[in-house]
Amino acid sequence: MSDNNDRPKALGPNTQLVRAGYNPFDYHGFINPPVTRASTVLFPNAKAMERHEQKYTYATRGTPTTDALCEAVNELEGTAGTIIVPSGLAAVTLAFLAYLSPGDHALVVDSVYGNVRHFCDTMLTRFGVQVEYYDPSIGASIDSLFKPNTRLVHLEAPGSNSFEMQDVPAITAVAHRHAAVVTMDNTWATPLYFRPLDFGVDVSIQAATKYPAGHSDILLGTVSANAEHWKRLKYANGALGICGAPDDAYQVLRGLRTMGVRLERHQSNALEIAQWLEARDDVARVLHPALPSFPGHEIWKRDFKGASGVFSFVLAVARTDEFQAKAQAFLNALLLFGIGYSWGGFPSLALHVDLNDRRILPPPEEGPVLRLHIGLEDVVDLKADLEKGFSVARASR
Ligand SMILES: Cc1ncc(COP(=O)(O)O)c(C=O)c1O
Repeated sequence: MSDNNDRPKALGPNTQLVRAGYNPFDYHGFINPPVTRASTVLFPNAKAMERHEQKYTYATRGTPTTDALCEAVNELEGTAGTIIVPSGLAAVTLAFLAYLSPGDHALVVDSVYGNVRHFCDTMLTRFGVQVEYYDPSIGASIDSLFKPNTRLVHLEAPGSNSFEMQDVPAITAVAHRHAAVVTMDNTWATPLYFRPLDFGVDVSIQAATKYPAGHSDILLGTVSANAEHWKRLKYANGALGICGAPDDAYQVLRGLRTMGVRLERHQSNALEIAQWLEARDDVARVLHPALPSFPGHEIWKRDFKGASGVFSFVLAVARTDEFQAKAQAFLNALLLFGIGYSWGGFPSLALHVDLNDRRILPPPEEGPVLRLHIGLEDVVDLKADLEKGFSVARASR
């Protein structure tokens, strides 16, 4: 965990990525920080221990390696402080635990990451917090959902699997009038393509598992708060003892250095494939915010600097009772796309999305929804692989 004493400098995003968080001359000029594996930290004498007179006291409260990552994220997000936790899911649940108490009411976007919904409907409810889901397109009309005890509004844009955009500045303005804290899962865009705090969000959350780690081999989450909300977040993290490991922090910091170039490639590959899909008769709809046909496109264009590599499309299937079989036939025909959860790594992935947990938004009726994460491969090969999927799905019944 680390406070940000060093305010963001006016550097380009890729320059920031290369330098953020660590000065090589703090450690003999070595380009990367050492991995400090630790539980115990020694004090020179009993008085120093009693007064906690040194920067590091015990490794649950941070190490030089985790601090290097936290400081890098602070610089990218423009936040006062960042904590790291062992997964993206823990990053969201910890933020909720930091700001909510029994008797509170929370507004959570209906297109929220599914495991966060599960946490809300089970543990948060058990702890006496009332959770209400809202339509991602609600904008300033969210005002009508506020109650005297509404303490937190959670956003995720684009939404999980269905990619709805949200009018972030409109929602944060209303939330702040009601003195609620605004948290946002910004994993899709990363702070390179959208900086939540610039749009009024108080607490920005990332599953660093995805693009920051970038290699499908690390789980980590970051929670970054503005000055007003940092103290409470730091306190909650200290109380719970949920801390990210230094080896994982090292790997994520390493991943950050190349995230800009990787994202550019994910973006251009994904956009090319999304446009190619949109032109096909066997695709009913493509759910990608950077496509002008997508309902939230104008908001994306107004607020975001880019798009990442994950989006969905609706396979055109006439009969509802064939949705599942056609989706499975499509996926099973793919050789380059792996069938697997998560995204943000170098290889392409595909899966059949289940949107039946939604309370407000009905799932598309034109066919099954397939989510693609477009990796760093050559687009021509990925298109050929998807072409196989379409032809096998067409022939299946
Ligand atoms: C938008 C979003 N947030 C959070 C998470 C959770 O991240 P993790 O897998 O590190 O728990 C995911 C995982 O897919 C996600 O898609």
